[in-house]
Amino acid sequence: MSRNPWENEVFATESLESIDRQFLPGTKQEVEFIEKELDLSAGSSILDLGCGAGRHSIELAQHGFHVTGIDISEKMLEEAGKRAFDRETSVDFIRCDLLSLSNHFNDRDVLFEGAICICESGLGSPGWEKDLKLLRNIHGLLSNNAKMILTTYNGLRKYRGDRVNTKCFDFLTGTVHWKVPDDWHGNEKLCEDQRVYIPSEMKILFEIAGFTEIEILGCKPGDFKRNKLEPDDIEMMVIGTK
Ligand SMILES: C[S@@+](CC[C@H](N)C(=O)[O-])C[C@H]1O[C@@H](n2cnc3c(N)ncnc32)[C@H](O)[C@@H]1O
Repeated sequence: MSRNPWENEVFATESLESIDRQFLPGTKQEVEFIEKELDLSAGSSILDLGCGAGRHSIELAQHGFHVTGIDISEKMLEEAGKRAFDRETSVDFIRCDLLSLSNHFNDRDVLFEGAICICESGLGSPGWEKDLKLLRNIHGLLSNNAKMILTTYNGLRKYRGDRVNTKCFDFLTGTVHWKVPDDWHGNEKLCEDQRVYIPSEMKILFEIAGFTEIEILGCKPGDFKRNKLEPDDIEMMVIGTK
């Protein structure tokens, strides 16, 4: 099995530049929405899964929440640590593959009062079983009534023919086969298979993992709202309650 592309420093560095350009400016709006939906008072604990360079973690911590940010990428976490320091903010950043989340939090006393997983951050392993396990693990780490907000690709759009030359969608398995372009200057031939879900599949996964009150909304970066999901939306937002 090839390693997760985010563990490659060149890939992570270039992706971070693109996230900063495209998504960093919209972070404040996203966090305002997240805070309203999680409905928590300052001092509550929030888990940021696939936190990247900490754009949500740091903003939430500045608003008084205790945030634990988890990511697989050393590069992203290094940058997250610098950014938190520059903003005189404290966040617990932990390097961990979400697929082995339970190894890091086997103490059942560790309960979070909310969780976020924003912008295709870790869910989407080939085969739905690993994603179900991940959602079950997250569910196990939450306190009763805690909410989880996930934003990820809207599989419906893939079935409608969203194609990019470095990506190939297999509609029989719902899997996007991705590879870096042949002329990519990085030091590794990175590739990844990513399972994308249509809304009804995602709802089933959340349900089996134990979440209730599951809602699926449309999702536009920098403009998080309670929008109805449209088939051509690039991303969807899933909100579930423990
Ligand atoms: C597109 S970035 C989004 C980062 C952040 N959530 C944001 O919105 O700025 C995806 C992040 O997910 C992380 N990630 C991907 N797969 C992961 C895994 N299996 N375990 C932990 N982190 C993962 C990557 O390292 C990367 O930082």
